[in-house]
Amino acid sequence: MKSKFGMCVLAAGKGTRLKWDGPKALAPLMGKRLIDYSLSCLTEFASKENIEAMVGVVTGHLKEEVEGHLKSHYTQGNIRFALQEVQRGTADALKAYFEKIKEASSVDYTVVICADTPLIESSDLTLMFNEFKNNPKLDAVCATFSTSNPTGYGRIVRAKGGLGFHIVEEKDADLEIKQINEVNSGLYIFKTAFILKHLNQVSANNKAGEFYLTDLFQDSYAVSALMFASGLKFLGVNTLAQLEEVGGHLRKRIVQKMAEEGVIFVDPGSVYLDAEVKIGRGTTVFPNVYCMGKSSIGENCILEPGVIIKSSTLENGVEILGHSYLEEAIIRQKATIGPFARVRPGSDVGEKSKIGNFVELKKAKLEKGVKVSHLSYVGDAFIGEDTNIGCGFITCNYDGANKHVTQIGKNSFIGSDCQAVAPISIGDNSFVAAGTTITKDVPNDGFAIARAPIAVKEGMAKRFIKKKT
Ligand code: UD1
Ligand code: CA
Repeated sequence: MKSKFGMCVLAAGKGTRLKWDGPKALAPLMGKRLIDYSLSCLTEFASKENIEAMVGVVTGHLKEEVEGHLKSHYTQGNIRFALQEVQRGTADALKAYFEKIKEASSVDYTVVICADTPLIESSDLTLMFNEFKNNPKLDAVCATFSTSNPTGYGRIVRAKGGLGFHIVEEKDADLEIKQINEVNSGLYIFKTAFILKHLNQVSANNKAGEFYLTDLFQDSYAVSALMFASGLKFLGVNTLAQLEEVGGHLRKRIVQKMAEEGVIFVDPGSVYLDAEVKIGRGTTVFPNVYCMGKSSIGENCILEPGVIIKSSTLENGVEILGHSYLEEAIIRQKATIGPFARVRPGSDVGEKSKIGNFVELKKAKLEKGVKVSHLSYVGDAFIGEDTNIGCGFITCNYDGANKHVTQIGKNSFIGSDCQAVAPISIGDNSFVAAGTTITKDVPNDGFAIARAPIAVKEGMAKRFIKKKT
């Protein structure tokens, strides 16, 4: 039978030291919010261990914002909320969780995790859960680590000769206990029945006058302190400097994982990838590339230096040349973009199409093999297969109030320096001569030209050439 888990995420804290206006749980981190990392760690743990899980988030400070974010991002998930009105300590937060969420009491195990520790991975929870598998009598496991600077953490005081231990918070520690280097990480797995039995016995009889969750650990209880080799993964975010620090670690982790899966980074330290970015194997990423949001890059692509990609999809074999900027766009197989191109939201560049330097696309759907090679603006447009757009083409899509569409068929040739005054339609196999301002629809196979007649006068140049005196 599947074990049932409840996951309690502590997120009621104010996060005053972060100096950020929103709730700490929603601090931005690599394209996601701080709390999202704890939640994805929990969901990953649940799916890897094949357990049934419900998640409950304890909110307090700016609860509407935290709940709003979670409701809109985890619609399919089983997320409940428990309001802790006054923050009287971590045990009080856990109490709110069990009081407000009925299902929380009926599960076998309860994980407690803080919303501000984004480096914890599901494999860490697996190691902790294994302790229960090895010793079915165990009631709780606390993750600990050893640090040369334990100040601020609860110290792990192991019982002499026994299994058990207890935790002494910084404020209550005497000099001898302050010397202890093993500290509490704040990550726990409990048997739910054990919490329900002991939670009401926790008092606020300590220097801080708070209800400490750590009082659930006593020398005589069947509790285990599982020491991790490094405390790095438990790094909590209290300040902006720590937010940057965990960001740096996450960034390295993302790049490293992709490198292991076959992505080629020319200079891994200079690349910025948001947490939800995907890149296929064989793709080469040059220095100073930024990929943001839910971007997905296919296999065997090339991202040259200085490329910025936001929430876009690139199919296989796409090349984005230096200093191009893409946003909410789709680039189909083997298309080439840039250098110095700007592809704005709603653009869809067809297979093997070529977008050259200083070209701007906006809401432009280009079919297969279209070429817009130099210095053009193509907005609100459809361009058919294999059509060639010459240098300096402009869609005049805006009349000061509304946007209008330019439609160009397949296999057509638009000469250099043309303007399409939209709404306008140009057919298949048509030819528009260089320098034409297109103000009338051009049918299939049509030819269009609009130019002032040229006058050429022999020997007349000297009248106009000015010499410096
Ligand atoms: C806690 C542990 C300490 C451990 C440290 C690891 C206790 C008593 N102490 O201390 O042993 O070494 O974490 O980082 O648990 N929260 C609420 N409601 C409250 C109080 C806190 O939701 O009433 C939340 C906070 O938002 C935070 C988490 O619980 O996410 C931890 O609380 P915090 O006050 O930061 O505990 P520490 O003093 O760091
Ligand atoms: Ca803390």
